[in-house]
Amino acid sequence: MSTTCQLQYTPTVLTLHFSDGSRGEFLSVWLIDNDPQHRDAYSGQRLVDVADLPLARTIHAARVDGGDVLIEWSDSHVTTRVSVEWLHQHRARAASDVHYWLDGAQRNAFEDCAWLSHSAYGNDAAQTATWLRRLVTEGIAFLSAVPTHEGAILAAVAPMGHVIDTNYGRLFDVRAVAVAENLAYTDRGLGLHTDNPYRDPVPGFQALQCLLASTEGGDSLFADGWAVAEHLRATDPESFATLTTTPVPFYYRSAGAELRAERPLIQLTARGVVCAVHYNNRSIAPLQLEHAHLQRFYHAYQRFALLLREPRLQMHLRLRPGDLVVFDNQRILHGRTAFASMREARHLQGCYLSRDSVLSTAAVLNREYRTAC
Ligand SMILES: [Fe+2]
Repeated sequence: MSTTCQLQYTPTVLTLHFSDGSRGEFLSVWLIDNDPQHRDAYSGQRLVDVADLPLARTIHAARVDGGDVLIEWSDSHVTTRVSVEWLHQHRARAASDVHYWLDGAQRNAFEDCAWLSHSAYGNDAAQTATWLRRLVTEGIAFLSAVPTHEGAILAAVAPMGHVIDTNYGRLFDVRAVAVAENLAYTDRGLGLHTDNPYRDPVPGFQALQCLLASTEGGDSLFADGWAVAEHLRATDPESFATLTTTPVPFYYRSAGAELRAERPLIQLTARGVVCAVHYNNRSIAPLQLEHAHLQRFYHAYQRFALLLREPRLQMHLRLRPGDLVVFDNQRILHGRTAFASMREARHLQGCYLSRDSVLSTAAVLNREYRTAC
């Protein structure tokens, strides 16, 4: 059913009361800037420049005309016609489509997360769209029954977005090796972390496919870093403020790579919404700050670390051969329990996908979808 509205206006603000009970207020300069006749008919891109906008122009009259709102301007014979539906879609909203999950231990990954068989991905458009929407809103989703030959992950994730090449290669193996250039390539347990905060840009989404599972240990751990960050904001606002404003240097060095980047552990949008968590104790370089700031930072950093260690925040599962997990590497922290590589092999293959390409694929299949960041 199409949206209808009732209308009021002052010289500078048009107010619409929509049929679904919501309300939208639109400033005159915003309406002029977004006038549909100032858009290219094919691309939809804006044809006018802000430098040419008549900031002082005011509303002379406005009325509903069918499915449109018709606006007459005080100093111009040109009228503006905008559809009610478009104004409804573009009214200012605080709403966020993010589905936070703080109590990870309460989640049964096999039942509470999005799963789709590899054969259904792309062949069932509705299921694929739902799976991608949940990947974006919950930060994590799983495929099952992906072929278990080496490299199969690249073909499996290709329809989701653009795979990013790094110094680890387009594809990396996560298994215990004799000489490991990264602790991930040992059989040690790994605390919750995000990958590669020393890189610019930080990898957006990460995919990991299980080729060989261990029967003892090697469980995967996941936590919703955005939910944990919001929990910190609610319970310890000072620590939260410190972690959002302290520049932390991250560093990685190997025979063939030297990577550095500086960013806060918790990153906010201009609206103050958490949009990234960068947490990897293995790659934090020495901070160079004055002592009082360092004291505040270590207090806040430890608070966050202790929160992340709380079992109630961690979702556990043991990936089975053919299972493939995709998660937002700037939101979902991942880790694993230790395993005994001398007794049995555990082998995952992984790759990174650019964040915008995955969000775009999800948005194209769910045209109405919007993200917080
Ligand atoms: Fe990792």
